[in-house]
Amino acid sequence: MKFFVDTADINDIRELAETGLLDGVTTNPSLIHKSGRDFLDVVKEIAGIVDGPVSAEVVALDHQEMMREAEILRKIADNIAVKVPLTVDGLKTCKALTGEGTAVNVTLCFSANQALLAAKAGATYISPFVGRHDDVGYPGMELIADIREIYDNYDFATQILVASVRNPIHIHDAAKLGADVMTAPPAVIHQLFKHPLTENGLKAFLADWEKTGQRIG
Ligand code: E4P
Repeated sequence: MKFFVDTADINDIRELAETGLLDGVTTNPSLIHKSGRDFLDVVKEIAGIVDGPVSAEVVALDHQEMMREAEILRKIADNIAVKVPLTVDGLKTCKALTGEGTAVNVTLCFSANQALLAAKAGATYISPFVGRHDDVGYPGMELIADIREIYDNYDFATQILVASVRNPIHIHDAAKLGADVMTAPPAVIHQLFKHPLTENGLKAFLADWEKTGQRIG
């Protein structure tokens, strides 16, 4: 499973990139707003930090204007994945861009049929939002299971990018279902490293080691 971080915070991205475990970055207009920075500047900086795909979202609603914005975004760096919303115009744009060899992340997916449309439009990634689904009382993970089954039925190459991840359980469940990628806020990724038994065990080992009076090397 590939790990993307869902943020436009440069310090968080650098810190995670240093672990060697980060495969890409996703941003959205709300995260850009939170960063307080110029959209194109921040995307360029992120694309220079990580080798993997960096999703940058168009904000136009019509196909022609989406294509114009995508043109600007994909020129920023080779690892830009243009993010488009799951609308008729978004999927028209997806089809055109992937036909030209540009990676496309189709965002705001809330149903398996929408994911089927995105795959037919040649999407590189489909982003089903599990957390927002849970918020309205529908188990988001059922959506991931349905999309996995449908994509496997037809051997679609579109990668399932589990988005709107709120906690480690989302990641655990998505991995069991065979999702290709997950994108999570930095804090949720940091939670994955932690376990109280690891911390207690390490403390005890180090205390005993201290008693030996030895040092390595
Ligand atoms: C995905 O690409 C989105 O940026 C993101 O996962 C949305 O998450 P949220 O529902 O926590 O805003």
